[in-house]
Parts: sequence; structure tokens; C-alpha cells
Amino acid sequence: MPAKINRDLLLQRAWAARETAYAPYSNFAVGAALLTKSAEIFSGCNIENISLGLTICAERTAATAAVQAGQRDFVAIAIVADTELPIVPCGACRQFLAEFNPNLPIYSATLAGGQKAWSLSQLLPCPSDGILTKRA
Ligand code: THU
Repeated sequence: MPAKINRDLLLQRAWAARETAYAPYSNFAVGAALLTKSAEIFSGCNIENISLGLTICAERTAATAAVQAGQRDFVAIAIVADTELPIVPCGACRQFLAEFNPNLPIYSATLAGGQKAWSLSQLLPCPSDGILTKRA
């Protein structure tokens, strides 16, 4: 049976993870929390780098934590940032998450309490699939 989604708990974990963000260049801290089928929650924060292109988003650090722990069945992800409107994951993170669940529910919240929710399939309706690596 898949893990039951406790959206508030997931958002709380994303909120806490945001506090560990390393974002000295943008000063924009983001936290994420990813629920897996095992009922575990893997959190992530953005980690920036002086070579700006090496920056990793919170969503991807959460996903890498889950996968390295052996959990590939993604059930839902929560994201928290201090913005006027809830943020949406960037294109790279959408594709990265779609690898494990193209229909992943996404809950996004602001520190002020604004909330939005989507399915990943709404934000990335046509993810890149194995077609590039398949030979004719
Ligand atoms: N960022 C995330 O971590 N997640 C998002 O969904 C949007 C952007 C990070 C990347 C960078 O460290 C900072 O926010 C500014 O873009």
C-alpha cells in the first residue's frame, strides 16, 4: 500500500529543510521534503556554488537523498520558499523528478502561508523518456 500523504507534515519538513539551505549568492533559501512509498521523508535544500551553474535545487537534493537510501518510489514532494506566490520547480527538477514518478503530487507553500498544488504531469506533460537511448 502506498504511504498516506500528510501534506502538513511534508510542508513542515520542507520548512525545516529550508533552514539548512546554502544560498550565499542568491540569498534565496528553498526547502523540499519528499515522501517515498516506504513512508520515509527525505528532505533537501538548495546548495549553491561559486560556479553558479553548479547550484543544486532543493528538489534535487531531496531526490538524491531518497535514491541513495534505496527509495525510488516517490509519492509526493513539498517545497517551501519565502516568496509572494508559491514557487514551481524549475525545468531541470521537473525532468529529474519525472524519472521516478511523472505524476508526482507537488505541494508548494510560502512562509506567509500561501499554498498551491499540482501534479508533475501538469507542469511537465511530456517528459523526455527513453526514446533518445533506444535504437531503431
Ligand atoms: N531553487 C530551488 O532550490 N528550487 C526551486 O524550485 C527554484 C530555485 C534555488 C536555486 C538557487 O539556489 C536559488 O533557488 C535561486 O534560483
